[in-house]
Amino acid sequence: MKIAITGKGGVGKTTIAALLSKLYQSEGKKVIAVDADPDANLASALGIPRKEAEKIRPIADMAELIEERTGARPGSMGGMFKLNPKVDDIPDEIGYRLDGITLLTMGKSKAAASGCYCPESVLLRRLLKHLIVERDEVVIVDMEAGIEHLTRGTAEGVDAFIVVVEPGQRSFQTAETVRGLAKGLGVKSVFVIANKIRTEDDLRFIKGNIKDMEFLGYMSFNHEIMEADLKGSSPYSSSPLAIEEAMKLKKALEERLSEGTS
Ligand SMILES: Nc1ncnc2c1ncn2[C@@H]1O[C@H](COP(=O)(O)OP(=O)(O)O)[C@@H](O)[C@H]1O
Ligand SMILES: [Mg+2]
Repeated sequence: MKIAITGKGGVGKTTIAALLSKLYQSEGKKVIAVDADPDANLASALGIPRKEAEKIRPIADMAELIEERTGARPGSMGGMFKLNPKVDDIPDEIGYRLDGITLLTMGKSKAAASGCYCPESVLLRRLLKHLIVERDEVVIVDMEAGIEHLTRGTAEGVDAFIVVVEPGQRSFQTAETVRGLAKGLGVKSVFVIANKIRTEDDLRFIKGNIKDMEFLGYMSFNHEIMEADLKGSSPYSSSPLAIEEAMKLKKALEERLSEGTS
């Protein structure tokens, strides 16, 4: 299972990525959780203590690794470098392990954000492709709304491309943009998870605004999730309701995907 989670900042991508990672892990599956948001905070949502999380170096900052694998220094452009660097050992070598979950933090590449071809963006894109297309583990990618790390081949390998929305126009504008980009990359169906739902009206608003995307389910507005964030602990260890709702989402997803292939 390869899942990519996108959406506007603050809608709950990281919360949902962490919950799904924990759920798959609790089933005994090996999980690779990828923090591909430059504003990285998946570690905290997985319950990694702050002191530990601060020590995790994002891959985009690993100049030696980038140079060793691509043959060129980060930041250099236009020079010669390998377009197909070795990446298959990276999860084991530098992933942060907690129980059955391996966390990889991609980090911020200014150059990649501008869409350029430079050593660090080549390495990150190649790594993401490897994770999505070549691994046996469950891979869950916590992304930002910009999906520039995704190439066509990678996007096509994603089983579930999820956009998280909350009740409100702005997260829908982002969702529409993401949907357009995703379809352009060959993603067949885009699933919507509604988060922070307080009332039936909220849910109606969401369902009424989904165009050309598939509604998967929702998570309620939940004070325990906020409390967990305040304490820097994981929603998985703090909120039975969040677990229950995330299990429903996971089940809905698996059902949809098996309908699609049968
Ligand atoms: N269902 C929810 N109910 C209440 N607060 C939530 C819910 N989901 C997420 N949050 C809170 O909203 C904020 C943003 O969530 P986060 O998962 O970091 O979003 P993103 O990764 O999309 O930026 C956090 O403070 C988080 O605790
Ligand atoms: Mg986030």
